[in-house]
Amino acid sequence: MTRPGDHSAQGPDREGRPDMSLCRICGGTVTEFVEFGRQPISDAFLVPGRTDGEYFYHLAAGLCQSCTMVQLLAEVPREMMFHEDYPYRTSESASMAKHFELVAKRFLETELTGPDPFVVEIGSNDGVMLKTISDAGVRHLGVDPSAGAARAAERAGVRARVDFFEKTSAAAIRQADGPAKVIFSANTFSHIPYIGSVLEGVGELLADDGVFVFEERYLADIVASKAFDQIYDEHYYLFCVRSVRNLVERYGFELVDVEHLAVHGGAARYTVARPGARRPNAAVAEFLDREASLGLADLATFTQFAANAKVIRDDLMTLLRDLRAKGKTIVGYGATAKSATAINYCGITTELVPYVCDSTPDKQGKLMPGSHIPVRPPAAFSAPYPDYALLFAWNHAEEVMAKEKEFQESGGKWILYVPDVHVV
Ligand code: SAM
Ligand code: TMP
Ligand code: ZN
Repeated sequence: MTRPGDHSAQGPDREGRPDMSLCRICGGTVTEFVEFGRQPISDAFLVPGRTDGEYFYHLAAGLCQSCTMVQLLAEVPREMMFHEDYPYRTSESASMAKHFELVAKRFLETELTGPDPFVVEIGSNDGVMLKTISDAGVRHLGVDPSAGAARAAERAGVRARVDFFEKTSAAAIRQADGPAKVIFSANTFSHIPYIGSVLEGVGELLADDGVFVFEERYLADIVASKAFDQIYDEHYYLFCVRSVRNLVERYGFELVDVEHLAVHGGAARYTVARPGARRPNAAVAEFLDREASLGLADLATFTQFAANAKVIRDDLMTLLRDLRAKGKTIVGYGATAKSATAINYCGITTELVPYVCDSTPDKQGKLMPGSHIPVRPPAAFSAPYPDYALLFAWNHAEEVMAKEKEFQESGGKWILYVPDVHVV
């Protein structure tokens, strides 16, 4: 019998699947709607020649029939994902760096105007948001278990704690630094299966009039854009306003605001406070109404999503094979975590895509998880340009295409696969 909180992916063959699925949040029944098979850890890039013992788990997602949270059915142990060598760095995208600078400026102008405010960021990574807070002389702490990322934050002048944010670490922070006026998190809160402990930690640490603000990919956009590759180990939950409201209320908070964001292919920023501390914005009810009409709590919506993923997979593989049969060269662009799902679910191999270019130093010279496609620096992209580039970093299409303008000018074409396979 599986109980909430017991969704370990580790079986004797390391691919064990839970015999039944209960919601990690409410204990309700989770109905599987899509499965992508055996998958590697999405950010576990391998050193060439050292690929033995690669870890795999079974990637499937389901909908909780009770609280409506979309969630994975198996969990990768957190220390295997977030550690010293976790390679992702927010600053590799100039548009995300700008986005977080604006987030920090807005906090400085609105929430942080009182005496000696304190800000905590959960999943601060290389410190790109807190740098602006630090430069303004405001007390802050970034919490992130990935030591390499935390060191990068410290080099930027950000105070960092190498730790998993959860109830115990939050209580220790409160003891040492006092209550936080703002707790912020981006693209991290939904990565944490033990999300209840995080909310208990927020309960420990948040000032009575403080806000917990988090940004995450938005389920409505994922469904609309058929972005099946947004499902991978790190995206344990896929949030919408209804499921988030159910979640935070369960832990004694109130959802007081929601904003839609254009980043990462469509995201939402949620603002949570202690009950009665803030007047809820009308946007919350508006989002809830829209989500009802979009069917975000209906299994049929997700069954269709799974069918869409199969069509994209078949169309993409047909296109890649046809192009190779005609002697065309294809290179991948952006060794994203989500490309692990796209590559390993579709079955893309080095025969089709011999390498992927990426600007992240810690990914270069390594092999993509599962497929073992080599990762090369962006300079390899133009030496020489391929005929086609498969854009795995489609969420950064504008930034990448602007940067690589010469590729298109010299006749190169981009292949995108969301919302449908198309060439530009
Ligand atoms: N916030 C950055 C952004 O939006 O680009 C980084 C997002 S990155 C995808 C997720 C980060 O969350 C990683 O740096 C990881 O180490 C961190 N993380 C994972 N679990 C965490 C936890 N329990 N507490 C704090 N950080 C965590
Ligand atoms: P993300 O979609 O999770 O933000 O990951 C984006 C990946 O793409 C990351 O590995 C950095 C890489 N990247 C480039 O190589 N060039 C670029 O111009 C951008 C924006 C990202
Ligand atoms: Zn549930």
